[in-house]
Amino acid sequence: MNKILITGGAGYIGSHTAVELVKAGLEPIILDDLSNSNEKVLDRLEEILERKLTFYKGDCNDRSILDQISKDHKISGVIHFAAFKAVGESTEQPLKYYSNNIGSLLVLLDFMKENSISDLVFSSSCTVYGQPDVLPVTESTPRKDAESPYGNTKKICEDILVDYVKSKAGIRVIALRYFNPVGAHPSGKIGELPIGKPNNLVPFITQTAAGIREKLTVFGDDYDTPDGSCVRDFIHVMDLADAHVKAFTYLNDKPSGFYDVFNVGTGNGNTVLEVIHTFERVNDLKLNYEIGPRRAGDVVKIWADTKKINSVLGWKPSKTLEDSMRDSWNWQKGL
Ligand code: NAD
Ligand code: WQD
Repeated sequence: MNKILITGGAGYIGSHTAVELVKAGLEPIILDDLSNSNEKVLDRLEEILERKLTFYKGDCNDRSILDQISKDHKISGVIHFAAFKAVGESTEQPLKYYSNNIGSLLVLLDFMKENSISDLVFSSSCTVYGQPDVLPVTESTPRKDAESPYGNTKKICEDILVDYVKSKAGIRVIALRYFNPVGAHPSGKIGELPIGKPNNLVPFITQTAAGIREKLTVFGDDYDTPDGSCVRDFIHVMDLADAHVKAFTYLNDKPSGFYDVFNVGTGNGNTVLEVIHTFERVNDLKLNYEIGPRRAGDVVKIWADTKKINSVLGWKPSKTLEDSMRDSWNWQKGL
């Protein structure tokens, strides 16, 4: 069975991807330093999958742990999720972000080369587009100057990968630009687990509904959008997880030196207020929210053109915003 190293595999997207890899007959080898996750996720994954998983607790900047993994297992591919992702914190502690997000990629690429591991799927982000001039964004929409050190790390990592594949390093790479991942595994056993006060919309919604937060503030309702609130492309995390499996299958017959990038979104934009009202409707509850001022630096509207991933990888999302809101609440209720 092909073994796939997943760095950051105890995190939100990585843990859901582990489930989809096993379903597709691949064997995830999880490496995570638990800096933004919890070891209990591993127990939950094993409950969902009804089998044991291989987990290494460690930092993927640490070459010795990677060497140990390759001694123990024949790794055929890597998904590199591990990164710090808090946009606000990245402006306060940029070096922490440059060091972890870029440093870990460099260590990993060197490790892959020395161990003749060819296939890499990298977690990029729609943040590389900034506020686009034309919507929806395709993969050839020009990337903008990053709004934050976090966003810059994703741009720089993409650039490093482009240069590296050209150097005849013997690797094949897909970068997936995720839009806004939401939802949880339908079992409610794994989901997004922000440490402290959430920055992202959906965890804030679910924590407000659960009474952990007093109220949700909608950051602005006077934008040039259908109801004045910002527009995003909310993609269910299980669909996003499936895109990684499709990416590996696609890489299989590609020559070394191959690099490509794909948007992973639904192709639809929803406003913040639509998300709130969908959450209320499908879960039959009222959310305590108020309209507040705009959030500095917010992108007003963005959604993905998904023609490329639909046609080239044969990937299409199967879940709706309703599913996402139901699954997110189901997960929150079980915490
Ligand atoms: P997450 O924080 O839930 O998961 C990341 C995991 O990586 C965590 O479990 C953390 O403990 C681990 N980690 C961090 N640095 C590490 C290191 N040096 N060594 C080992 N483990 C380390 O985040 P997520 O939402 O699952 O995001 C996964 C990836 O997707 C990240 O690269 C993120 O930048 C990217 N991304 C996320 C979003 C989003 O909104 N969630 C959107 C676009 C891109
Ligand atoms: C979504 C919308 C807010 C919270 C972040 C990262 C970006 C990328 C995707 C990783 C916005 C509004 C939010 C709240 C609100 N991640 N909102 N009240 O802004 O798309 O981007 O995730 O690569 O890099 O910056 O996501 O969830 O923060 O916000 O009204 O309490 O919800 O204004 O319009 P965003 P988000």
